[in-house]
Amino acid sequence: MRISVIGCGYLGAVHAASMAELGHDVVGIEVDVPKAQLLSAGKAPFHEPGFEELLGRSLASGRLRFSPDMAEAAGSAVHFVCVGTPQKRGEYAADLRYVEAATESLLQVLQPGELVVGKSTVPVGTAARLAELVSGKVPGAILAWNPEFLREGFAVQDTLHPDRLVYGIPAGPDGDTAQATLDEVYASIVDAGTPQVVTDYATAEMVKTAANSFLATKISFINAMAELCEATGADVKQLADAIGHDDRIGRKFLNAGLGFGGGCLPKDIRAFMARAGELGADQALTFLREVDNINMRRRIRMVDLAREVCDGSLVGKRIAVLGAAFKPDSDDIRDSPALNVAAQLQLQGASVQVTDPAANENIKRSWPQLLVVDSAEEAAERADAVLLLTEWKQFRELDPVAFGQIVAKKRVLDGRQALDRDAWEAAGWSYRALGRRAG
Ligand code: UGA
Repeated sequence: MRISVIGCGYLGAVHAASMAELGHDVVGIEVDVPKAQLLSAGKAPFHEPGFEELLGRSLASGRLRFSPDMAEAAGSAVHFVCVGTPQKRGEYAADLRYVEAATESLLQVLQPGELVVGKSTVPVGTAARLAELVSGKVPGAILAWNPEFLREGFAVQDTLHPDRLVYGIPAGPDGDTAQATLDEVYASIVDAGTPQVVTDYATAEMVKTAANSFLATKISFINAMAELCEATGADVKQLADAIGHDDRIGRKFLNAGLGFGGGCLPKDIRAFMARAGELGADQALTFLREVDNINMRRRIRMVDLAREVCDGSLVGKRIAVLGAAFKPDSDDIRDSPALNVAAQLQLQGASVQVTDPAANENIKRSWPQLLVVDSAEEAAERADAVLLLTEWKQFRELDPVAFGQIVAKKRVLDGRQALDRDAWEAAGWSYRALGRRAG
């Protein structure tokens, strides 16, 4: 099938290359010319395991190309809208300007019989509004909403082997056509027995925000337990293991620590609250404000803990920060808890040396006041404390004995409960983590 993918950021670029991998003839439309050029040259504009290989394969097959020009989308049977929906400045609501601009621009080339498929995360009600716009301007064109659940770090795997497919479609024959077309696009995924939920626009839109809200709530739940553990001397890691053995609860997303960040969970729960307010249903989601508060308190607590282990003052202390991306296997620093903590430490008088295996260039651009170094060893030189804030594999596997030779004081704060506590303590380190007893 001929497919266009409009917006080649994280979601769109991976989607475009994956659709080509599935055998479709794909054009990715990206208005940012340097980004379109980079992608055309087979270079990933972001760090994502497996993506560059997939991109190379798809370009070499001749089934994938990129262009900044919407005219190139003309003639595609299916147009996926994959642009970003960031948080509005100074507000909780989502900023829909890119979705609106992309749709308007697509309408110039859209033909009757073609299918527009929204994949961006949008406030409930957006699809119905866009559907009217599409059918008003191009009678015979149809809109569907097909949310994406990919995780950064697993984007390729999640796109080619999703847990489920959700189609939000209109009622009647247009809906049947949309469903049949999407089934054709995803034929191999459907044939693999992937569960499908075929529903209306509003439910499809809400599935995405509800899923992200649930994940955020699960993380904040265990972090609230961590606060209580700190007050009682209990151990949050053992608590998570124990409750996680219950199938109904499950152990995933119960890792206490610095909490959630990134370009999705924080802004999605806020946009969801804002939309609920507009709909007069704000009470239903007031708990998400608490989820957000618990999450933010973890960052403050981490800074307090660093001050505590540095004998009550951060002024003039050398602090090594390991990790800056919002999660491992990503160079994304949007709303990164690790960077937030690093910046706070610096502002409170510490001399912070930060390192991240993938995000160093991004930190230098966005936080020029932080000293960015190339390795954990360099960061730790003569450090008064070492903070592990993003659990990259190479940090989890550090040898506490050798690492202990570099620092001034063997104090480690494990912001992600990722280190082998016994090994670090055996090597003479004082180990601290949120929600766990001091050694
Ligand atoms: C999230 C969702 O997991 C995806 O399903 C969704 O498609 C995506 O948002 C999106 O809306 O596009 P992502 O932002 O890539 O994916 O990251 P997650 O793996 O969900 O992690 C989010 C944050 O939670 C990270 O900062 C991570 O460190 C933190 N986290 C995760 C914890 O603090 N504890 C945990 O147990 C798990």
